[in-house]
Amino acid sequence: MNTNTPAIEMRGIEKSFGTNPVLKNVDFSVSVGEVHALAGENGAGKSTLMKILQGVYQKDAGEILVSGEQVQITDTFAARKAGIGMVFQEFSLIPTLTVAQNIFLTNEPTKFGLIDDAKARKLALDIFKEMEVEVDPSRTVESMPTALWQLTEIAKALAQNAKVLIMDEPTASLARNEAEGLFALIERLKTRGIAIVYISHRMDEIYRIADRITVLRDGSRVLTESLKKVSPEQIVEAIIGRKAAAHLVHKNRSAKISKEVVLEVKNLSSGPKLQNVSLQVRRGEILGLAGLMGSGRTELVNTLFGILKPTAGTITINGKQLDISSPQQAIQNKIALIPEDRRAQGLVLDHAVTENLTLPLLDGLKSSGLLSKRKILARSKEIIEQFDIRLAYPGIRVGSLSGGNQQKVVIGKWLGTNPEILLMDEPTAGVDIGTKSEILDLVRKIADSGKSVILISSELPELLSVSDRILVLKDGHVSKSLNREEIPSEEFLQLAIQGAA
Ligand SMILES: Nc1ncnc2c1ncn2[C@@H]1O[C@H](COP(=O)(O)OP(=O)(O)OP(=O)(O)O)[C@@H](O)[C@H]1O
Ligand SMILES: [Mg+2]
Repeated sequence: MNTNTPAIEMRGIEKSFGTNPVLKNVDFSVSVGEVHALAGENGAGKSTLMKILQGVYQKDAGEILVSGEQVQITDTFAARKAGIGMVFQEFSLIPTLTVAQNIFLTNEPTKFGLIDDAKARKLALDIFKEMEVEVDPSRTVESMPTALWQLTEIAKALAQNAKVLIMDEPTASLARNEAEGLFALIERLKTRGIAIVYISHRMDEIYRIADRITVLRDGSRVLTESLKKVSPEQIVEAIIGRKAAAHLVHKNRSAKISKEVVLEVKNLSSGPKLQNVSLQVRRGEILGLAGLMGSGRTELVNTLFGILKPTAGTITINGKQLDISSPQQAIQNKIALIPEDRRAQGLVLDHAVTENLTLPLLDGLKSSGLLSKRKILARSKEIIEQFDIRLAYPGIRVGSLSGGNQQKVVIGKWLGTNPEILLMDEPTAGVDIGTKSEILDLVRKIADSGKSVILISSELPELLSVSDRILVLKDGHVSKSLNREEIPSEEFLQLAIQGAA
């Protein structure tokens, strides 16, 4: 169903934070039964536009129409009443409560003024049945995998009679098969007339599920078009404002990989999820880790960084066998980890960007007697410039940065420690196309300067474009080790990951 009846219309939206204008005269609409993709660089204003619709922020000017009627969205309650549901990227669920309790948290069916658990469970089951997914409403949220958290978020919005669902990078925390499940659900929601706003940095997804796309650049709308009428190149050009470089082509590295083995791992195990993994990484080498969700990739880098304790096996760095049982020990041995979940592990959101950037450096700055606000600021400014982190001023709270710019802060923070071995877990998740290619170029440069890199990425073109060698992990152990030249195509690698090649 695509009736061309607008479910939501936003006209001439303006928004500034302080003196910083972040939305300039933006028009945006989404029709009944339509999936409308919203794209743009990190900091372009996508989340801000949707937060205005959702009542989190107030617009400075412009109007909003819901089903043709002008509405004032003064707070999140008003948004909910108008039928606008948000599937939060950072989940808004309470982990210790059950699925049913979460779904009805704000509008519980009551029995004599108390929450009626049985009724909530029954209603939740009905909603999941309508969604054609299986989730047990009596489970606590924390006991479920994150893919089910997202379904719970969607169910919660539907329970509130949402006519419009806003999804902000919904696949960022999903494996490929889980993402397929979400796409199928989106198709079903469309046929029920739900309008969906879909924020994503992934072009393949946008073409897969969206009907139209709107691109924001620096707070202005620069493109709105049916996906049948626009090429990926045109979209990228709209996003970055110039013709894109072919960043996903495998580039020959300028420096030679030395024979010297920097990191040697033998028969490493950690619990049931990582078993008997052996690998070697040489100086200047980029080792890619491929595998499905749950294959043990994150467990492997977390064990190397001392977050998970090894239960068997050895880690040898530069010929010396080491006992790495804490991140402090890993850092002392010049290992750095850029973690997958930037919010939980990477940043202190309430602290300034400057403090976050220099956090792992502070020990060093202190011991050499260099700790001063001025030094911290100077160093921060260097990193901000190097990574083109977009912010109003260096002392601003990290939490107020756009998602992608937060990710750049995480990367900048760890590269600032000048590690010998760099572990990167999905470093480009949530990062826009231009920045992605910058990060990949940076990875190459880091390796060229004699460092060793272990890189996890679920985006195969990206993995293929930078890796010198790829280890495929499956069920916690290494199932294949391939030199880049031995991998003829993305399809080949995909089959290897699924254990079919
Ligand atoms: N609460 C806030 N206070 C100050 N500035 C803010 C706040 N929220 C967002 N901004 C600024 O508004 C701009 C737009 O941010 P927004 O989060 O909308 O970007 P985005 O397009 O969603 O980017 P990303 O792809 O990185 O998530 C950024 O410059 C950001 O720093
Ligand atoms: Mg955002």
